[in-house]
Amino acid sequence: MPLLLTDLRADHLVRPLALRRTSPRLTWRLSAEGTRILPRAHRIRVTRARDGETVHDTDWLDSAESAAELAGFSGEPGAEYRWDLSVRGDDGTVATASSTFGIGLADWDAAWVEPPQQPVLVEGPLELGPEVFAAADTATPPGDRLHPPRYLRQSFDLPSAPVSARLRITSQGVHHPSVNGRPAGDGLLAPGYESYQHEISVMTHDVTALLRPGRNVLGVILGDGWYAGRISILGRSAQYGDVLRATWRLEIDLADGSQHVIRPDEGVRSVRGPIDWSDIFIGERHDARAEIDGWDTPDGDDAFADGAPCALVPVEVPLVPFVGEPIRRVRELPAQAVLTTPSGETVVDFGQVLAGRVRMRVRGERGTVVRLEHAEVVDAEGNFLDNILGVNKDQADEYVLAGRSEGEEWEPLFTFHGFRYVKLIGYPGTPDPANFTAVVIANDLEATASFTSSHPRLDRLVENTVWSQRSNFLAVPTDCPQRERAGWTGDLQIFVPTAATLMGVAAFLERWLRNVRVDQAAHDGVVPIIVPMPPAMDDPTRPNAGLGGIHAAAGWADAITIAPWELYRHYGDPRFLRDNLDAMRAWVEYQTADAAATHPSRIDPDTASEEVLARHRLLWNGQPNFGDWLAPSTLDGSRPEAAGLDEFSAIMLAPQLTAELTGPLFQIRSLDLYAASAAALGEHDTAARAREQAAAVRAAFAAEYVGEDGRIGPDMQGIAVLALAFDAVPAEIRPRVVERLVELVHAAGDHLDTGFVSVPFLLDVLWDNGHRDLARTLLTQDTAPSWLYEVDHGATTIWESWHAVHEDGTVERMSMNHYAFGCVVDWIMRRQAGIEAIEPGYRVTRISPDLDGPLDHCRAHVDAPAGRIAVDWRRRDADADLTVEIPIGVRARLDAGPGWRVDVDDDLGPGTHTVRLLRSEESTAS
Ligand code: BGC
Repeated sequence: MPLLLTDLRADHLVRPLALRRTSPRLTWRLSAEGTRILPRAHRIRVTRARDGETVHDTDWLDSAESAAELAGFSGEPGAEYRWDLSVRGDDGTVATASSTFGIGLADWDAAWVEPPQQPVLVEGPLELGPEVFAAADTATPPGDRLHPPRYLRQSFDLPSAPVSARLRITSQGVHHPSVNGRPAGDGLLAPGYESYQHEISVMTHDVTALLRPGRNVLGVILGDGWYAGRISILGRSAQYGDVLRATWRLEIDLADGSQHVIRPDEGVRSVRGPIDWSDIFIGERHDARAEIDGWDTPDGDDAFADGAPCALVPVEVPLVPFVGEPIRRVRELPAQAVLTTPSGETVVDFGQVLAGRVRMRVRGERGTVVRLEHAEVVDAEGNFLDNILGVNKDQADEYVLAGRSEGEEWEPLFTFHGFRYVKLIGYPGTPDPANFTAVVIANDLEATASFTSSHPRLDRLVENTVWSQRSNFLAVPTDCPQRERAGWTGDLQIFVPTAATLMGVAAFLERWLRNVRVDQAAHDGVVPIIVPMPPAMDDPTRPNAGLGGIHAAAGWADAITIAPWELYRHYGDPRFLRDNLDAMRAWVEYQTADAAATHPSRIDPDTASEEVLARHRLLWNGQPNFGDWLAPSTLDGSRPEAAGLDEFSAIMLAPQLTAELTGPLFQIRSLDLYAASAAALGEHDTAARAREQAAAVRAAFAAEYVGEDGRIGPDMQGIAVLALAFDAVPAEIRPRVVERLVELVHAAGDHLDTGFVSVPFLLDVLWDNGHRDLARTLLTQDTAPSWLYEVDHGATTIWESWHAVHEDGTVERMSMNHYAFGCVVDWIMRRQAGIEAIEPGYRVTRISPDLDGPLDHCRAHVDAPAGRIAVDWRRRDADADLTVEIPIGVRARLDAGPGWRVDVDDDLGPGTHTVRLLRSEESTAS
């Protein structure tokens, strides 16, 4: 079989309609089953879809790469292209394939349609106070505070059916578009959440099949969404604006070659529809009695007889094409059971913590109100427990029945919740589980990895992590899908290696990183703690700008160096570095300048020696930050400092003990990654300067914090882990730091005591420093705090805190769906399954199954840019079998680990290899 070309993509996407870059990077995969043909050259021809004219031809390029950037090609905004790819193998045969891409059009002289409306009420605190965590504000019912979404209608005539039609549409608020009564696309909650004050994304839909000759109707429902609704820990509303608007452009090509463009005009009419209110946090109320038949179809004109005309106002914010997978319904889960709890409540259990909403069937009398309240847990007795409290965190939907004799079905439109359990109030009759479906919503990212092994609890841990990623890769990468739904930069940087392994996150995170950069630019190099950062929260003139005065946080802001670097490592796409290098530079320059200007409050500049002051001018340690956030011993009372602290003070103990150290440690990390990024882009002088700066900070760190005895600062696991992982200890002291870390782990009864920012490195640090068995012990530890404790206590996602559910079943009011601690999956894939990228894009991959660990067998894969890398191994007493699948474009190095040897060459090329691994007599595993 000759070469086969598959999976042609432009900017990581299959047949995108509207890219933001005018010159995409094109990639493909090659296979040559059963033969050893390798690629030698490729040629790409680009033709314009509209007239078939060839606009670019690379001619034959000698290259074995499966990626190309089209030097000299710049697509026209709004145009679509076909690309024909030819690849020549070393046997002379040529394979061909073709695909398409379009360039987005966003920057037209657009006008907003602004329906008559009451502005959204501005409510919710700006400062962190006790009410932020207190019971939901039910004093004023949502109906008195929220306004109904608007229903917009524009009708127009066409002389004939189109050959092609594209709808470009966006909004301030979320929108749901339809054409002649059918949804335009299957996206939800468009255009998603972004830094709206800087730019707003335009969605592009192919609506060719929805239009017809004669009268046509475009319908748009417009709701508060993230723009005007409640969002972030504060539960505050109208953080970007209080007026809802939409704009669109419908481009229609007819068979006679004419083009028609429909834009909003004075003819657009607006009415109130059946949705009484809809808020992402609070929930949605739908009154089916108020549904308007045909509101968005040509025969429904009457419905809009009283429709109000809309104002047309100029769009002043830049519009940009939305690139990537939209939010969709990605899964549906049937209810597992309808429970009557000990306290007599009716609760539907979906068996899985998730982000989404419920689709319900119901039959009953007109006017009956069914209320659905959402929560992630039941308490120790099995009663419904609302684990998310706080201002506007209601998570409750209401449906008012129309009273249809055949029954009715409903799913909310503009809200979603974090839940597993739904408390039903007012449901008529006996609820049958078959009438309830959990509709999981998320950006529709492809799954790119799998893991199944002889260890069902580890399999479940991986599965739980996938669920937490699915629940939180929703519009932006969020901390949790219930309490805050905010783009916490720290959570993302912690999780990004796992995220990129498990799902195709390239376009999603490229989009988010643009938001990081625009939010950063407003701040002198500081990357906010959350992105998008609502402007009022971020106002530097407020004494407590950011959250509680934390606004440039170590391990959070460093997402700007860490995420692009990790994405480059995973996808091998240098644009992650190119796009972000200036932002990385601005961040490390901020750290350097702030280090020179600040010092920890314990240092008195009047009495400290010049040597000490000089050190502190190098160390970025004078700012408050979150430290090693949620380190277990600060929360479970096992540290002496934690004695007698209330809940909030206990949470702030980790920052108090560790922030002075996490600052300079992440400063080192960012300088290193900035240097590595510059070097990868050929900016060697920049790289050399950053390395010099990093060396100076390391020396100052060692002098200030690293004891001869290997103890560092507060002598906690997390700090030792970071210092070792970031190479912040002098070589001669390193062994003692490792020893001290091991002692600390043993002293904790072989439990981890790592918080958010250190946990990603814990197992690697032990593994790489001769303590493989201890790393394995921590991985499989099952008393708290540990990963398997969560699994054994019924977790179906990753919890925010290791102690979210206690041994006796008592539940803390924490989030049950925070992906951060799921970062261990990256380690499991690399060090247990044994698939690890050594060079960017997995071009060189290490295959090293852990044959002395907890697994007897394991089958796993990672979809690298070039194709699938898969392992399937099984160990016996004296040997093990391994099958490895390697795609064209990847070389694999086989590393059987200490105490093992292989019976073949350890350098594997493309193809499927069956290998026998043998125990060697001379050594044993550590
Ligand atoms: C969020 C975290 C976030 C943290 C900052 C929390 O409220 O849920 O995940 O990173 O604040 O420390």
